[in-house]
Amino acid sequence: MGIEEHRNWDSVDYTNLLSGNLFPPNFMWGVATASHQIEGGNTNNWSAFEPRSKSGQLSGNACDHWNRKEEDIQLIKDLNVSHYRFSIEWSRIEPQQGIWDEDAVQWYSDLVDQLLDKGIQPMATLHHFTHPLWWDEKGGFENENNIDDWIRFCVKMFDVLSDRIDWWCTINEPAVFASMGYVLGEFPPGERSFKKTRIVSTNLMRAHARCYQTLKSMEHGKRAHIGLVKNINLFDPYRRWNPLHRLQARLLDGMFNLCWIKGLMTGRFKAPSALRSKEIPGLKGSSDFIGVNYYTHLLATPFMPTKVDIDPLIRPWEQRTDFRYPMYAEGLRRAFDMVSCLNLPIIVTENGVADDDDDMRPEHIRRHLQITGEAIADGMDIRGFYHWSLMDNFEWAEGYDQRFGLYHVDFETKERTLKESGALYSEIVKAHRVPQVVILAGGLGTRLGERTKQMPKSLINVSGKPILSHILDWAGAQGCMEALILTGHLGEQFDGFRHEGMALTFHQESEPLGTGGALWNARHLIQDRFILLWGDDFHPIDYSELVAYHEQESSPLTLTVTTEHGEMNLLHVDGKIAQYDKSTSPPSEFNGYESGTSVVEKRVLLEHGKDGKWSWEETVYPEMSMKASAYLDNTKFWDMGTPERLERLAEFLNKTSL
Ligand code: BGC
Repeated sequence: MGIEEHRNWDSVDYTNLLSGNLFPPNFMWGVATASHQIEGGNTNNWSAFEPRSKSGQLSGNACDHWNRKEEDIQLIKDLNVSHYRFSIEWSRIEPQQGIWDEDAVQWYSDLVDQLLDKGIQPMATLHHFTHPLWWDEKGGFENENNIDDWIRFCVKMFDVLSDRIDWWCTINEPAVFASMGYVLGEFPPGERSFKKTRIVSTNLMRAHARCYQTLKSMEHGKRAHIGLVKNINLFDPYRRWNPLHRLQARLLDGMFNLCWIKGLMTGRFKAPSALRSKEIPGLKGSSDFIGVNYYTHLLATPFMPTKVDIDPLIRPWEQRTDFRYPMYAEGLRRAFDMVSCLNLPIIVTENGVADDDDDMRPEHIRRHLQITGEAIADGMDIRGFYHWSLMDNFEWAEGYDQRFGLYHVDFETKERTLKESGALYSEIVKAHRVPQVVILAGGLGTRLGERTKQMPKSLINVSGKPILSHILDWAGAQGCMEALILTGHLGEQFDGFRHEGMALTFHQESEPLGTGGALWNARHLIQDRFILLWGDDFHPIDYSELVAYHEQESSPLTLTVTTEHGEMNLLHVDGKIAQYDKSTSPPSEFNGYESGTSVVEKRVLLEHGKDGKWSWEETVYPEMSMKASAYLDNTKFWDMGTPERLERLAEFLNKTSL
């Protein structure tokens, strides 16, 4: 249960959060949604239940996301996030048992492609409260035999999408599904039966375990990260010293949180209110990460309301959200502590607040991110944070009355408008993210022998894999999640190339354009600020320090310069590049060598760019004399221009494991 801590938030210093120093560079920044809440036009267990739900509101065409996919992906992109969690609507994929709607499958496949094209990594949820009516009529999760059907759906989607999706959530919040559907009766099927709650809970765990084991055994299964998403709802005794309040809190904590976590840990599951635990095949160790959805804590007494519409008790200093439960960010840390016994990487798969006028959400975001960042600093393995939700949507039994979005949605016109909190979230994310990497990867290995004359050097194998993969390993370790690879005119040789954890975009030229021409040719894919790399150089330097220097100098272009190199090719004066010349006999006053990694503001490309073939370094560096900054750093860089140098690079890479 943990101790109920409260903090004086007025005295919390958010400087690191706002300046981009609270989270590691490779942190997964995301937003989350679920199919039924945004897509519109779904027919499933929920749409059938809606007329009987508390609000009586119908999901109808919701946010009409099904017809506005491209627009919404752009909204995600505009938030600067690197990850997007969505769910796949089974009732669309298999509207009747055994009949697959390939157009619907294609829709999700396109969604994934379009996300990746924009540098956003997808995370898919396979069950987020909804399923087809035909399956519901067979009893849904009330019948163990039905699990086969759901597994078939999971296999189908994994088969189609696992070549591009690395992150998978099996079931969203099994405890919420079971308790809302079978104890409180607020979700379909709207029942109140402890017996059914026990059965459904156990079947949810069976289904999760089978899903995990089945997908793991499929192609791409090993590299996929598959996990359960657990809502952690904290229960605290209303009066700390009242034994009845303590008992009630402990009971609820046990049923809502601990039995599920223990199940995952031991493989034996004791369903809420069950007397004995049951061994569930494949359950032990059935998660590569644990997804934590965290919203609040509830104060327990023996007389707690069993209806969501009666205001729960709160502490006098706490602020109620529109959902009536309080904002309690300190509890997020307790949620992390609670799942830490699983020894798994933690991902905050949902956190957000219902707040109609957006006056609480900015502070809600700051507090929960602050707590997350501090937990990371204390050594907890927290990999990502997905804000719930991208946009206002259909909030289940509450209908459209509870707004959780970073974008406001006008449900009449479907117009989306960024809220102040959305702008804040995107600023925080931007401050923490490493810019896009752009790699000039088209240069041919002309000096490396017959075999590579017609092959981009970046694809040459060194120490077991193409040099490009080593470069991406380094960029990935530095927190880069997006790379644009300029493949030159022989781009088809990159077909099928992928790199785990990174969204790659390839751009090919119809004829050789030189380094400058290649960049100009791809300018529509280049972001406002980018890190420029050469596809045949391995330069393991610290990107955050380089980018921080670039920022601090307000420089339009920053080159990394080493002073420890055989030849010199530039003159730097007072921190600026004065001259650049890569001809063989440079003037004797030259005092530095360009070592390969630079940070570029896109406007430099737009100002100096032109059509046709031209060289970036030979054009832009002289034109920007005394404007481009020199970042002095003597980290050794490795090129592979000649067979000897290639040999030395291989030796180095063989020795280093990144
Ligand atoms: C659910 C979401 C829901 C959110 C806010 C979570 O329990 O996964 O679907 O919208 O809470 O209530």
